[in-house]
Amino acid sequence: MVFAAFRSIGAYIPPKIMTNLDFEKILDTSDEWITKRTGIKERRIAQKNEGSSDLGFKASQIAIQRANIDKNDIDLVICATVTPDYLCMPSTACLIASKLGLEPVQAFDISAACTGFVYAVSVAKAFIESGMKKNVLIVGAEKYTSILDYTDRGTCFIFGDGAGAAIISASDNKSEAIIDVNCSSDGNYSDLIQTIGGGSLHPCSQEVLDQKLACIRMKGNETFKLAVKTLSADVKVMMKKHNLINSDINHFIPHQANYRIIKAVGDMLGFTKEQTVVTVDRYGNTSAASIPMAMNYAYEQGKINSGDTVLFDAFGAGLTWGSALFPFSPKK
Ligand SMILES: CC(C)(COP(=O)(O)OP(=O)(O)OC[C@H]1O[C@@H](n2cnc3c(N)ncnc32)[C@H](O)[C@@H]1OP(=O)(O)O)[C@@H](O)C(=O)NCCC(=O)NCCS
Repeated sequence: MVFAAFRSIGAYIPPKIMTNLDFEKILDTSDEWITKRTGIKERRIAQKNEGSSDLGFKASQIAIQRANIDKNDIDLVICATVTPDYLCMPSTACLIASKLGLEPVQAFDISAACTGFVYAVSVAKAFIESGMKKNVLIVGAEKYTSILDYTDRGTCFIFGDGAGAAIISASDNKSEAIIDVNCSSDGNYSDLIQTIGGGSLHPCSQEVLDQKLACIRMKGNETFKLAVKTLSADVKVMMKKHNLINSDINHFIPHQANYRIIKAVGDMLGFTKEQTVVTVDRYGNTSAASIPMAMNYAYEQGKINSGDTVLFDAFGAGLTWGSALFPFSPKK
């Protein structure tokens, strides 16, 4: 039997910082309001001439190097993004594979918004366990600043840019195996977080441009309540299914959307501050990149060790949600 092992993590954090004080200069808002409502203090901004593939490429280089594999042994590249370099084609995964200089390889994107990276873990696991692939590069890469309306004070301050990546490889050692991934969706809530314009229903037009319909629109308050409910329910199911108690989890890594959501979910589930990884204060919400960037942050702080049990918990537009449970299993 072949198992899927989570071998490495990497991230690219764009150096340019936008603080809450910078928002005070362009919006009717304050550092105090943003900090109190979200816990966000600053977020990162990619350069004008960078696309999500550039961010994903840099994160991937680190993940590949840390996995200690030859890049040409990668036989599948998956990029989770809702801010692809190009709206329809080519996929961002194809661009990342090309920038990495990989030999021709299967590559495609996943669109599951903030849950995208967890969806990518589930697809990588399935490809490996079926025997079809051996080394999968998964990437969460977002340039959210490309879809923000900087006059929308209820939304624009939340998001930032960045990328995270991981290598998932075949292993014959069951103790290294990703234990479980559970992903789901409910399109009945599709209007909570949307980019209305630019797609097949409302193709690009003067109206789309004038009304900024290609920018993200979010019903923040309704989203907040559903996020808390869904994130906690999802983890309860996963923990019960595997007979786990809180102390079995070394690192709880929730989607980084809002510190109040993270705190409410953590409290409901009974995870301690030490178990819960928080980066929303420094990176804001980077959608599909948020979980791998958070994991990379904890890893670089020296907190994640070989064999530690990690639990991802994500929620996003769609609505989509998902959780993943695995031991961190770098190659010995
Ligand atoms: C966006 C969010 C921070 C707003 O916080 P909130 O407590 O829900 O605030 P509300 O939208 O109810 O607005 C409360 C008041 O603050 C005001 N307000 C909104 N944005 C503001 C800002 N940036 N600065 C100052 N005031 C603001 C509103 O106009 C409203 O004023 P009113 O009471 O006079 O009408 C919060 O809803 C949130 O984080 N939602 C979840 C977002 C999320 O997780 N999205 C991604 C999911 S993947």
